[in-house]
Amino acid sequence: RQKVTINIIRKLYSDNEPITVLTAHDYPSASFVDKAGIDICLVGDSLAMVALGHESTSPEMLHHCRAVARGAKSPFMVADMPFGSYEVSINEAVKNAIRFIKDGKMEAVKLEGGTEMAETIRAITRIGIPVLGHVGLTPQRQSSLGGYRVQGKTLEKAKKLIEDAKAIQEAGCFGMVLETIPEPVATHITKLLKIPTIGIGAGPGTSGQVLVQLDMLGIFDRFAPRFAKTYANVNSVITDAIRTYHKEVKERKFPAKEHCYPMEDGELERFLN
Ligand code: KIV
Ligand code: NA
Repeated sequence: RQKVTINIIRKLYSDNEPITVLTAHDYPSASFVDKAGIDICLVGDSLAMVALGHESTSPEMLHHCRAVARGAKSPFMVADMPFGSYEVSINEAVKNAIRFIKDGKMEAVKLEGGTEMAETIRAITRIGIPVLGHVGLTPQRQSSLGGYRVQGKTLEKAKKLIEDAKAIQEAGCFGMVLETIPEPVATHITKLLKIPTIGIGAGPGTSGQVLVQLDMLGIFDRFAPRFAKTYANVNSVITDAIRTYHKEVKERKFPAKEHCYPMEDGELERFLN
């Protein structure tokens, strides 16, 4: 399969072909993204919740990035900058963005925020690191948002969201995630911008879609927002398989003859005698 570059992302956008994005957090999940032909592989910091069992997002990302990079060769590779790695100063943000490229083997970074992050985005893109923006529901700020709730529902809030989207486009983002906002607002922003929007809980009017892999496979089942369509119930497939293994060992049905390594008849006895 052809390697997806940022130019191919731009081409998909100008051809009006929806862009597919799916998260991965380790080697096997990355290889699924690659094999299925997904355009952009995102090492989202949601992995802290869905793969590490934390209550909110804030993991050690570089370790996961390297594993994902080994598993996916064709998609365009983007990593979430975790909370605390880009807010304190522009210098620190640039330094940490470089770590994702050099140590994490990623091709671009994603960071959350609107107008207030524009200078930071400008500084990172200036040194040649593509930035994917993220506005709307920004989970790293869920405390100040009062939880995981729909953003931009009032006219005033929608206007602010539009200003934020324009500001980070102006700052040099190659695209942006629109998370959990009313469909008409997402469609309006998409029409207004000259770069692709990637929606999650933002309706069909965006330039592309993103889902969290463990959600869409029905593996992470602690809670499911409205937008999280499950394409398979892998949770029950895995649990059934492991339950069967457990039962077969208890009943001495596994391992069977075909799982054993034979020896020639009498060889061991001849050796022992
Ligand atoms: O962390 C994540 O997986 C994300 C996507 C849901 C956009 O930020
Ligand atoms: Na994220």
